[in-house]
Amino acid sequence: MKPQIQAVTAEPVIRLDDIQRHFGPVHALKSVSFSLFAGKALALVGESGCGKTTCARIIARLDKPTAGRLLFRGQDRTARGASKDERMYRKDVQMVFQDPFSSLNPAFTINHHIARPLQLHGGDKPKAERDEDIAKLLESVGLDPAVTRQKFPHELSGGQRQRVNIARALAVSPSVLVADEPTSMLDVSIRKDILDLLARVKRENDLAMLYITHDIATAAHVAEEIVVMFAGQMVEWGETDAVLASPKHPYTQLLLSAVPDGGRRFVTGGSARFLEQAEKIRALSRPVSTVVEEVGPNHFMRALVASN
Ligand SMILES: Nc1ncnc2c1ncn2[C@@H]1O[C@H](COP(=O)(O)OP(=O)(O)O)[C@@H](O)[C@H]1O
Ligand SMILES: [Mg+2]
Repeated sequence: MKPQIQAVTAEPVIRLDDIQRHFGPVHALKSVSFSLFAGKALALVGESGCGKTTCARIIARLDKPTAGRLLFRGQDRTARGASKDERMYRKDVQMVFQDPFSSLNPAFTINHHIARPLQLHGGDKPKAERDEDIAKLLESVGLDPAVTRQKFPHELSGGQRQRVNIARALAVSPSVLVADEPTSMLDVSIRKDILDLLARVKRENDLAMLYITHDIATAAHVAEEIVVMFAGQMVEWGETDAVLASPKHPYTQLLLSAVPDGGRRFVTGGSARFLEQAEKIRALSRPVSTVVEEVGPNHFMRALVASN
């Protein structure tokens, strides 16, 4: 076997560089910068309204930043390119959405949902070969092709539908997968299975993955790196293990304190004291700050602005 030669610093597949997004008076993203690397996942974590989906839509080119740059393999893709490049980009960057129910067409079988992207991007193939590809894809996401192919979406559970959505995304051999709260509408009992599946398909397909969640406790299941966002700003980021083991920003600490985890103090979300403390921390975290502190190896937080 030839020795594998690896570059010391891999080139990111996706890079967001100082992204700003305004919706009228709403400053939804304030200088968001991070990179996605092949075979690695980054968890984007924060409460509802902090700007997670806006990031996802910008990466998928469903939305355009007000300022800043989106790079794909080092190339600036902020502005719309030639239609051939757009098609390639849309193939390369796939999304899995929160709602497994509305993302499948109730009128078509599962077979059809997987066959279509294969036809569009895989070119013409004999039917037997195509059927084989569909079976492999369904198997790769833990579905039995013999049972699943001819079913309609309503005949599947939420978890099975999300598996179909993942298979459909993988059908076009993407290099980037953006999963926007992929388990938040699923039964609690099966969430971990879907996260394990995402971690596995990331590994097997060398995907650069963005895993979006409001549940910081799940970040470590999927993602090597984490970005914690609050009110459109990255407040803390770094390697997931380091950030979760030793959170430095009060907002990250707040998110973790609300997590019912054996090793941590459980603070009931509804208690008056918790809410009062949460409001204080939010007020402290909100002012825009451009000062970033390195708080550990590959671990950063945005400095707090002294308020008066
Ligand atoms: N199309 C839009 N028009 C106006 N405001 C928007 C639009 N999309 C998002 N926003 C606002 O931007 C902020 C971030 O939203 P979003 O990215 O959906 O957050 P998250 O996914 O973290 O819940 C919110 O204040 C939201 O109301
Ligand atoms: Mg969202």
